[in-house]
Amino acid sequence: MSGEHRLSGDTQGTRLDPWFGAYAERAHNLRASEIRALFSVVSRPEVVSLAGGMPNLKDLPLDALAESAKSLIANHGAQAMQYGSGQGWAVLREQICHVMTYDGIVGGDPDDVVVTTGSQQALDLMTQLFVDPGDVVLAESPTYVGALGVFRAQQAHVVHIDMDADGMIPQALEETIARVRAEGRTIKLLYTIPNYHNPAGVTLSAERRPLIAEICRRENILILEDNPYGLLGFDADPLPALKSYSPEGVVYLGSFSKMFAPGYRIGWAYAPHAIRDKLILASEAAILSPSMIGQMSIAQYLTDYDWYSQVKSFRSMYKERCDAILGALDEYLPECTWTTPQGGFYTWVTLPEGLDAKSMLPRAVRAQVAYVSGTAFYYDGRGANHLRLSFCYPTPEDIREGVRRLSTVVKAEKELVDMFGAGFHHDN
Ligand SMILES: Cc1ncc(COP(=O)(O)O)c(C=O)c1O
Repeated sequence: MSGEHRLSGDTQGTRLDPWFGAYAERAHNLRASEIRALFSVVSRPEVVSLAGGMPNLKDLPLDALAESAKSLIANHGAQAMQYGSGQGWAVLREQICHVMTYDGIVGGDPDDVVVTTGSQQALDLMTQLFVDPGDVVLAESPTYVGALGVFRAQQAHVVHIDMDADGMIPQALEETIARVRAEGRTIKLLYTIPNYHNPAGVTLSAERRPLIAEICRRENILILEDNPYGLLGFDADPLPALKSYSPEGVVYLGSFSKMFAPGYRIGWAYAPHAIRDKLILASEAAILSPSMIGQMSIAQYLTDYDWYSQVKSFRSMYKERCDAILGALDEYLPECTWTTPQGGFYTWVTLPEGLDAKSMLPRAVRAQVAYVSGTAFYYDGRGANHLRLSFCYPTPEDIREGVRRLSTVVKAEKELVDMFGAGFHHDN
């Protein structure tokens, strides 16, 4: 235990929390994400929020869902309101295998699917199963803020791998593996989001997929493939999953949160058989069983409703919003660069040199627009020169107005940096 931790362990508590000294060491790694810290301010109606990544549910067939919920409870209430299997309901696991065929995972075995409380829980379980304190998790640079939260909570060290417009760079992966191992550290997982990356907005190219799978097979590193946005490509189904190249070397995570809705909190892990056994045990220890009513509702939605047409309508709604943000960036922020998403919710913006997205944020919120600073998506404090813009939620008109407001803040900030140098905001 480090001196720092011993110190906090010895304290008698604080006025805010009399139990402060009693927490386990890992509890001190928990912190509110930068996104959560923003929630109260950006939810004001006058602020255009390009910050949160909430799916846009305006086109969800709520009347049909209400009918469906009513008939589910009337006809199968006793089962729907009961505990279920720790692995998840067999009927839904079969349907999940069908959903995964769109990702190039053909002939999936329902017995190797574990249903979880969102893919977030699967991420947590996988980290619990594989990561001891101090172990290294490799992840893209930048990476999903919610995964960083899990890795921190489990005392992992995250090492970032460079990306470009085609996703993770295989050579950077190889070099990082060699460097980390030369430092005597143990790599446990490669965590990756190949499709419509959160927050980078890029997609791993078809050429790189077999290369990444092969490097990890050769180096004996388990891949954790996180794919909640896969079905939300604007013009096409996703490229084949890494799982399809390396069935024994990949644990694939899927979710109904973005292709349907997050309300039932249902996701899944599709794992090699031995890992699936451990996942079930870990999940039973954590939650006993995933929500039965949630699983049955989703199973019914997949059977009774034309879910794939719904996915297509989500795609065109998000594409329209993506076009709005890219057009507005072109028009209002030529001094920045950004990624061009082929699907999903996000674009990753690089600010002019010297600008700091984190310190600029209060000024942006005062100008009634919000974003997430790039620093939220790094383990090591990098990212201040970037910001993530989400285009999933506001209307195209509001998106344009949000980018226009952002441009006034960026221009004012750039003027100050040009005049006083990059460090001015630290003294401000
Ligand atoms: C990359 C990524 N992984 C996982 C999740 C968690 O999704 P779920 O709702 O399935 O827990 C999200 C949610 O935003 C995400 O963006």
